[in-house]
Amino acid sequence: MAEPTPIFQRMAVIGLGLIGGSMAAAVRQNRLAGTVVAFDRRYEDALLGQELGVIDEAAASIADAVTGADLVVVAVPVRATESVLAEIKPHLAPGTLLTDVGSTKASFVGAVESVFGELGANIIPGHPIAGSEKSGVAAANPALFAQHKVILTPGEGTDPVKLDWLTRLWEGCGATVLTMSVAYHDEVLAATSHLPHLIAFSLVDTLAGEDQNMDIFRYAAGGFRDFTRIAASDPVMWHDIFLSNRDAVLRVIDHFSRDLDQLRTAIANQDSATLLTVFSRAKAAREHFSKMLSGQAYVTDMSQNQVTFHLKPGGRMVGDIRVPGDKSISHRSIMLGALADGVTEVNGFLEGEDSLATLQAFRDMGVTIEGPDNGYVRIYGVGIDGLQAPRGPLYLGNSGTAMRLFSGLLAAQPFDSELTGDESLSKRPMGRVADPLKAMGAVIETAEAGRPPLKIRGGQALTGIHYEMPVASAQVKSCLLLAGLYSEGATSVTEPAPTRDHTERMLEGFGYHVHRNGAVSSVSGGGRLTATAIDVPADISSAAFFLVAASIAPDSDLTLRHVGMNPTRVGVITILRLMGADIEVSNEREVGGEPVADLRVRSANLKGIDIPEDQVPLAIDEFPVLFIAAACAEGETILRGAEELRVKESDRIQVMADGLEALGVRTTVTPDGIVIPGGQTIGGGSVDSHGDHRIAMSFAVASLRAVGDIVINDCANVATSFPGFVELARSTGIQISAEGI
Ligand code: S3P
Repeated sequence: MAEPTPIFQRMAVIGLGLIGGSMAAAVRQNRLAGTVVAFDRRYEDALLGQELGVIDEAAASIADAVTGADLVVVAVPVRATESVLAEIKPHLAPGTLLTDVGSTKASFVGAVESVFGELGANIIPGHPIAGSEKSGVAAANPALFAQHKVILTPGEGTDPVKLDWLTRLWEGCGATVLTMSVAYHDEVLAATSHLPHLIAFSLVDTLAGEDQNMDIFRYAAGGFRDFTRIAASDPVMWHDIFLSNRDAVLRVIDHFSRDLDQLRTAIANQDSATLLTVFSRAKAAREHFSKMLSGQAYVTDMSQNQVTFHLKPGGRMVGDIRVPGDKSISHRSIMLGALADGVTEVNGFLEGEDSLATLQAFRDMGVTIEGPDNGYVRIYGVGIDGLQAPRGPLYLGNSGTAMRLFSGLLAAQPFDSELTGDESLSKRPMGRVADPLKAMGAVIETAEAGRPPLKIRGGQALTGIHYEMPVASAQVKSCLLLAGLYSEGATSVTEPAPTRDHTERMLEGFGYHVHRNGAVSSVSGGGRLTATAIDVPADISSAAFFLVAASIAPDSDLTLRHVGMNPTRVGVITILRLMGADIEVSNEREVGGEPVADLRVRSANLKGIDIPEDQVPLAIDEFPVLFIAAACAEGETILRGAEELRVKESDRIQVMADGLEALGVRTTVTPDGIVIPGGQTIGGGSVDSHGDHRIAMSFAVASLRAVGDIVINDCANVATSFPGFVELARSTGIQISAEGI
């Protein structure tokens, strides 16, 4: 095989310590540059690097290293940067890419500006989030950056081609590259890296100064060792980092000192409540970080988790089950519980990634939330005006509901905020909420074509409006009602067709009156919410997979308990019954303002129907699995008036049609729906869910009537709405296994 062409001809590393050396070694090992040359103030270190195979050539001077290089990497302690840049400047060829690896970025940009006048198109600040308490070229490790993040902070005028080269270079070293602003980088790193180092240095120093220090160290076990490992890091490097990132570090030290003081007071006063609250909040946050911060610099991105479902054909559905809690209600329970006065207890909370994203975002805004523990959550409400500014963007994963409802709430807060999401959420339309919010006086910036991220400017006085929604959307309605809680006068929303009314019901449950008159819902600003208890019903949207499964699989008899039966959500039952499904509803009752019932479903010979358009908003999330029912029915099923399906987690019309086609089922796609001739054989094959949870689960259901094995790709997002789906599906009769969980 031909050798790959290196990205750079000649890379010059200035400063051959642990990071410079490791980068040189990784670049050499992966053949990303033709020649790697290094200069170090201690020439013997450069020679050692050459001897160890970390670099190709040791340069005797900066001039020798930089001359002819098309990539220069500055890897010196941050306080030495400016003088090194001044030495590099006369030898830098035009077009040479200049970057660094320092832990503080404003200081690098400052040094560049004082030497070069500006951050030119070819200068890109960088920072690999990797390291070790070891130092020096002898500790260089070409694998140091594998599976680590590298943050680049390009400027407005950065040459995109150079940015691409540098990105590919780091990716070639095994890293994942993220870009962010200089200021945000420095804030984030002050909190996540600089402060922990400071505390580790300080703690070890304090203990070493105690009289019995030998004994203390002798008896110090795992906790001390884990916590203080980084106190063995390079003192000069850290000295430089703290002085260079002074302001951000001081802010976070002050914050930490206040919190530490609060714990001291709590211990002195035997204040168990404060101690338990802080510790359980921290424990929950620590456990949650690895999942929910996936959009940020220092943790794994869950959406890169490849999960594949494998299904064997056939089976029958039997059992007596309860599916997880309703996603829409779970989101709202956290939001209103957080804004209420008093403590709200929630049972049946959905522990899926979407509602957990909402929960974490409120923690980020200063709300104490205990749990979730087996569906139990306790929210210590901060009152309608009690939210605090989050320190960074709120990452909402895959959740459109969270982003749209948050936008209404945050538009009315005194602080600025930014809402971000995963790849799928980043493509979804947000103009539908941003536009009416702007009409209320909100200041919101979206990316191109109204897409996320949303940048919301706080401190705006909102005024109530009357809004006629062009699309039937519960998310838009809820967003405006939430903004309306903070607005001058009344905010009213008219819907073109009934949409889920959980927000209205729950606001009433929290003692906030919502005036409802036909298609119009309105609230008056200025009231307060009172904490309450919430019992979240099982999610009818999750139950839908089992309703269809037991209908299409022969000899099935399945009971689903405590299913939410809100009239604005039961379209799936109406449609399935029109198709001839055998669904028995019993034990109808009301829990906390929401109707619930038990459902017994048995196999039936389904027939194709013309789906009544008025049912579309009432079954909006259930169409993917209804398409599977239609494929198994006798005769043709026609869906119209459902263009909204094209802007869900995926284009659910096209993605379902493509998946069905991959299994040999013909359909005709229309702009606002689909025509599915029934009675076709569902073959085996491989289906791409496009990261859409409901598509993945729908094709798992299809296996019950398939004649061959089905493989479904890209299923990690099933965890957004239905944790435990695979186990529950298997226990009731679907022959499913999952790979990659
Ligand atoms: C939801 C409303 C619906 C639905 C979504 C949840 C909600 O979206 O599809 O899964 O919780 O308000 P639209 O309001 O955009 O139709």
